[in-house]
Amino acid sequence: MKRLLVSVLMIAALLGAPVLAEGLLPNIPKAIGEPHPEGNEYWRINHPALLSHDRDMTVIDGVRNTDASLAECVSCHAVKGPDAAPVTVESDQHFCRACHDYAAVKIDCFQCHNSVPEVADQAMLLPYRENPVAELRAYLEGVSQ
Ligand code: HEC
Ligand code: HEC
Ligand code: HEC
Repeated sequence: MKRLLVSVLMIAALLGAPVLAEGLLPNIPKAIGEPHPEGNEYWRINHPALLSHDRDMTVIDGVRNTDASLAECVSCHAVKGPDAAPVTVESDQHFCRACHDYAAVKIDCFQCHNSVPEVADQAMLLPYRENPVAELRAYLEGVSQ
């Protein structure tokens, strides 16, 4: 199913909008702010690589790469719930779940990362953790097995 959706996305990328209009894709919530200069197709296909922790060994080395910031994703892509507050990833309305639920993709990023916009300080990107780097290192060892 995952592969099928990826193929559909790639075909959609080649053919452009008409395929989407035919309802082959899930209903993706609208975003606010500037669209991505690279375009939606590019982002649909490449966001897993762009978000990967691989290159933020930078995180561990202390060089923060903010090209693709999860905190920023959930800001522009926030979806308001019935109470007008942004929904968390617990809700199937959450932007990151629009396609993932459809394609049966599971991500565990929001165990640590906030799934709603951080209104306060950008530096408070993650909830307080005793030893985030050690936790991240353990996590990365887990995923690379
Ligand atoms: C400055 C605001 C902003 C930020 C930050 C942002 N986006 Fe977007 N994104 C948009 C807009 C605007 C669109 C165009 C689609 C729309 O109108 O909803 C879009 C489109 C997309 C699409 C394609 C959606 C579709 O309908 O096909 C994906 C996937 C996506 N973004 C993922 C991400 C991810 C992952 C991040 C974080 C790394 C991110 N975006 C950060 C504003 C943003
Ligand atoms: C075990 C906890 C943990 C998990 C799970 C986790 N991260 Fe992170 N992540 C971190 C920590 C800690 C940082 C460093 C944050 C900082 O410097 O503020 C970070 C930083 C990042 C950054 C760069 C900072 C930012 O938000 O812009 C990105 C992008 C990122 N993670 C994406 C992901 C993605 C995608 C997943 C899921 C596939 C994920 N993370 C899962 C702990 C985690
Ligand atoms: C336009 C549809 C769409 C949207 C919206 C979307 N994703 Fe994805 N995402 C996918 C698809 C499809 C895959 C599977 C790609 C593959 O297997 O190569 C995927 C895979 C991923 C992966 C890699 C998972 C793995 O196990 O390999 C991460 C991390 C990820 N997405 C993060 C996000 C985040 C964070 C958001 C919200 C900011 C988001 N995605 C929004 C379609 C989407």
